Amino acid sequence: MENGKKTMLTGLQPSGDLHIGNYFGALKPFADIYADYESYLMVVDYHALTSLRDPEALRKNTKEVVRDYIAAGIDPEKAVIFKQSDVPAHTELAWIFDCLVTVPFLSQGHAYKDKIAKGLEPNAGLFTYPMLMAADILLYDTDVVPVGEDQRQHIEYAREAASKFNKAFAPLFKEPKEMILKGVGVVPGTDGQKMSKSYKNTIPLFGSRDDIAKAVMGIVTDSSGDRPENVYAIHKLVKSEDELAAFYEEKKGKYKDLKEALIDDLDAFLAPMREKRAAITDDEVARVLASGKEKARAASEAKMQAVRKAVGVN
Ligand code: ADP
Ligand code: TRP
Repeated sequence: MENGKKTMLTGLQPSGDLHIGNYFGALKPFADIYADYESYLMVVDYHALTSLRDPEALRKNTKEVVRDYIAAGIDPEKAVIFKQSDVPAHTELAWIFDCLVTVPFLSQGHAYKDKIAKGLEPNAGLFTYPMLMAADILLYDTDVVPVGEDQRQHIEYAREAASKFNKAFAPLFKEPKEMILKGVGVVPGTDGQKMSKSYKNTIPLFGSRDDIAKAVMGIVTDSSGDRPENVYAIHKLVKSEDELAAFYEEKKGKYKDLKEALIDDLDAFLAPMREKRAAITDDEVARVLASGKEKARAASEAKMQAVRKAVGVN
């Protein structure tokens, strides 16, 4: 908002190691344009608590994700990098939204239904998850939210929360828009399903060349056509389709050669980030989080005070 800039915000869960789906779906779209916006990049640790009950792992993953953000090219001077739990207004506002939306409305959540179908425990946090996400977004007057396709409905839910609040109390919230890039909305995992930390089908973003090779060799290939679609879908994230056309034509049916080329190309793409990441110290991570906490609290304080006044709890 300052300097007439629009506000962009996104967040990733510290529920495990980031994978290339997180990068191409959310992090790269953010990294490509964040300097033109008032930008916020969160580590949503309270969201991760819906699936993780291991305090040491949560603490460790949180720091790792901050390191990942910096390695992916986000300059902490140009974006506010912070941890969701450092700004209590997020959970406070989420409660207020919970009191405005209905159980049938939340029951239509695709992410909730998908996670239950995959065997995750249907805890109440998982159910009301979209309202915490709405609070994350709306507290900062966010205009744009870069995410993968699986989050589209959550942004709709955030608009719904804003509109419900604005009608019930006072017009305090701006309705945000999702930014979902064509071709990277759903990066397939090694099993052909959506790549996800919770499905054990990932290609790690910061793995070694061996980790990448192991994951790529495990990509399930459909033998019905000439082109292994799951391999190609990942390959085109790091090389243009023009560059790939002749190569895939020449190597028709030679899945092993194609996978080896994908390993080389992925590794060449990821190696510079991996090297950058290795040089980031724990102290730097701690400094970034401390400064992000200050800035995010300052940026959301006035909004939260207006909210408390509007609902009658101040
Ligand atoms: P995961 O499913 O691995 O736990 P998150 O839910 O933390 O990932 O997602 C973080 C961000 O990465 C979201 O914006 C999400 O849409 C994006 N994302 C996750 N998986 C993919 C994928 N396979 N393809 C594209 N974007 C993805
Ligand atoms: N729900 C998102 C995911 O699983 C993570 C998230 C939480 C988020 N709060 C957010 C993304 C706010 C964008 C904006 O991927």
